[in-house]
Amino acid sequence: PARAVAAMAHQAPASLAALNTLISATPAFVSGGTRAVLGEGPLEPDLALVGEQPGDQEDVEGRPFVGPAGQLLMTAMAEAGLAREAVYLTNAVKHFKFVQRGKRRLHQKPTGGEVKHYRWWLETELSFVRPRLVVALGGTAALALTGEALAVSRTRGPRRLGAHDGYVTFHPSYLLRLPDETARREAYAALVADLAAAKALAQ
Ligand code: URA
Repeated sequence: PARAVAAMAHQAPASLAALNTLISATPAFVSGGTRAVLGEGPLEPDLALVGEQPGDQEDVEGRPFVGPAGQLLMTAMAEAGLAREAVYLTNAVKHFKFVQRGKRRLHQKPTGGEVKHYRWWLETELSFVRPRLVVALGGTAALALTGEALAVSRTRGPRRLGAHDGYVTFHPSYLLRLPDETARREAYAALVADLAAAKALAQ
């Protein structure tokens, strides 16, 4: 069966639905990850937002950006004049990578190799979705889209991301982890400004 899945994985799916069926049928390549969390949103949107990987809450609900980072992102998007329904939302890695600590499931950052393993799904997905602009939320998304390790603080803003017109900004989880209230407020303002700029660029 593992070989059958591997063989299937290299056949180009004919549609986004076929790709999603393939993704859902394939075991996680990272530790943890009970289920694949698929991208969601309209086809041919102005923007596709790419995160790192689903978190605990996303893994439970099976939808991207529904946990704390997702809620922060939705608040920032609303301030930038973006409705959730208008944007395509997905992740570089389709499974939640975690370690169990008692009752808690602790997020683990995917390795470069793991990100690379998931790249083909992401690129195939984006080839069906056809956004005008791809927004990389954080370094993992930028790595997945370009194959290069980009420091977000130095590469924020519009830039080519592999085959896509793109924009690099902070991941909302990064804001949640900033210990300093002032730094958090500044990074949040930067995220809102970036989302608004990406929206304007895509129109
Ligand atoms: N963080 C992500 O990168 N993606 C999600 O879907 C949720 C949190």
